[in-house]
Amino acid sequence: MKIGAKILTGITFLSVAVSSLFASEINVYSHRHYDTDKILLKKFEQKTGIKVNVVTAKAEELVSKLAIEGANTPADILITADIGNLYEAKERGLLQPIESKILEANIPTHLRDSSKEWFGLTKRARVFVYNPQTVNPKDLSDYINLANPKFKGKIVTRTSASAYNKSLLASIIANHGEVKAQNFVNGLVSNLARNPKGNDRDQITAVAAGDGDIAIVNTYYLGIMLGSKVARDVDTAQSVKIFFPDQKGKGTHINISGAGVTKYAKNKANAIQLIEFLSSIEAQQMFAEANYEYPVNPKVKPAGIVASWGSFKEDKLSLNEVGKYNKKAVSLATKGNWK
Ligand SMILES: [Fe+2]
Repeated sequence: MKIGAKILTGITFLSVAVSSLFASEINVYSHRHYDTDKILLKKFEQKTGIKVNVVTAKAEELVSKLAIEGANTPADILITADIGNLYEAKERGLLQPIESKILEANIPTHLRDSSKEWFGLTKRARVFVYNPQTVNPKDLSDYINLANPKFKGKIVTRTSASAYNKSLLASIIANHGEVKAQNFVNGLVSNLARNPKGNDRDQITAVAAGDGDIAIVNTYYLGIMLGSKVARDVDTAQSVKIFFPDQKGKGTHINISGAGVTKYAKNKANAIQLIEFLSSIEAQQMFAEANYEYPVNPKVKPAGIVASWGSFKEDKLSLNEVGKYNKKAVSLATKGNWK
């Protein structure tokens, strides 16, 4: 039996087999559309004989879809980037707690939900990328320092509506309180080289082109450009340098891609098995090698280009705290006119 094709905000979903009729199936709603993920899921199918059906769309769309479908959802697992999305899915009652000694062993405490509803699978660090011709790295320190007037007209970043910036700002609120976070927003906005636009890759390109001197970006965007087969991307990425913020304080802000079992999962045991597999050394090595992300499993080292940036102190703030302050972050950004 099939659920017919559905259209959701411009995205046509291919039909999804209804899981309850097949003991050995699992249905995944995923925001991630990388080839590695496809290969990993194929591996899981081969290992277990459990068929994996995937629906991909934007995170907000998948969360809305889960909410609308309620108990009728075919989805067993939600996989998405950004803690804000996972936290929201949990807050809306769309996930359920699961017990797994394997997940608790493979994933550090701050990268998983304390009530066991979501689990981090990959990490990305939110760093600075700067032009070494115009910026002395000795002038760089933590995120709040970007509000210093000495950086006037030097900073580029995407909008405050970006999930990554919301979560970064939420972490600043959690670590330093609202007043300092608001001052950070105000100072950052007055130091911008241009109106916020584009994705993190565009910020790197802007720094390389001299349209700004310091960008706030997730590490894997730089990794993807450095590992590109397009010579121009490699040249662009090689002309900038990476800086890990707040090494003398809390540490560099970390975000995740992660997964949770849906509240109405019909294949709960299979769902837990899949998330466990994705946290295993084998799967974590593949995540690490393919997407320039950091593995969450401490037994697995980052690969190639990512390892070449060296180790760094990461902020161990519980991502639950980051999720909790996401809404507050939106109001501070709006108040500070961060577009
Ligand atoms: Fe991204």
